Amino acid sequence: MLDREEPQGTNPAYPSTGKRKGATTWRCVECHGWDYKGKDGLYGEGERYTGVKGIQAATRMPSEAISKLMRSGPHNYTSEMIRDEELDWLAAFIREGQHDTDLVIHPATDTAKGDAERGAAIFQTVCATCHGFDDRLLDWGEPGDLGSVGTEARQLPAEVLHKIRNAHPGAAMVNLRAFPLQDAVDVLTYAQTLPAE
Ligand code: HEC
Ligand code: HEC
Repeated sequence: MLDREEPQGTNPAYPSTGKRKGATTWRCVECHGWDYKGKDGLYGEGERYTGVKGIQAATRMPSEAISKLMRSGPHNYTSEMIRDEELDWLAAFIREGQHDTDLVIHPATDTAKGDAERGAAIFQTVCATCHGFDDRLLDWGEPGDLGSVGTEARQLPAEVLHKIRNAHPGAAMVNLRAFPLQDAVDVLTYAQTLPAE
């Protein structure tokens, strides 16, 4: 996200209830979840369970308090990891940038609740430039196994929705922040229909 070197080693604040190790344990998602709900959401069980709470109640926290929380325990992010001005962006995301995945992704079936036809128009004019009209141009899967917007949209729609709205760490990718949530949900809904291989 911030074009920084990866942190070395496992985050000392990463709970022993979690199963992950190394640089990834510094990522907000490993403790708070792609749905921002922490233990009350997607990561309430399974491989990425940590037992940490979500960040949704923090929409009511003042920006200064959020910045302070990032610099102190349990977070202890240094200014090399996250610069001071970047803390303001983070606070803006926490206060104004979150959505409730339950309202836009069906919790039982993982299907997005948008308009695939509208989503197709956005995908084909915005995303296809890089991902290809058939979503096969960028492939981050193992050989013989397509890893694409479509495959990911079906596996982990909450992650893809987050990335549509906020882009992808380390990648030169657009984000749809300037547009309403509905546009991102429509793209996600269309993405779930894209080729599986
Ligand atoms: C290693 C686990 C871990 C990581 C990684 C992590 N957090 Fe946290 N976070 C916590 C814990 C534990 C708490 C609860 C602290 C408390 O209540 O004393 C917390 C609390 C918060 C809160 C306050 C929530 C509330 O309602 O009080 C916010 C906001 C937050 N974290 C944002 C972030 C952001 C943004 C990142 C990434 C830049 C991040 N966290 C990364 C463990 C983590
Ligand atoms: C300017 C080029 C560009 C555009 C436009 C673009 N992307 Fe991306 N996107 C990338 C690159 C590069 C990656 C990283 C691919 C990799 O990891 O190999 C990426 C990654 C992703 C991922 C994350 C994959 C993962 O590993 O989790 C998703 C989801 C995604 N893009 C969706 C979209 C959607 C939806 C749109 C349109 C709203 C879009 N992208 C537009 C370049 C772009």
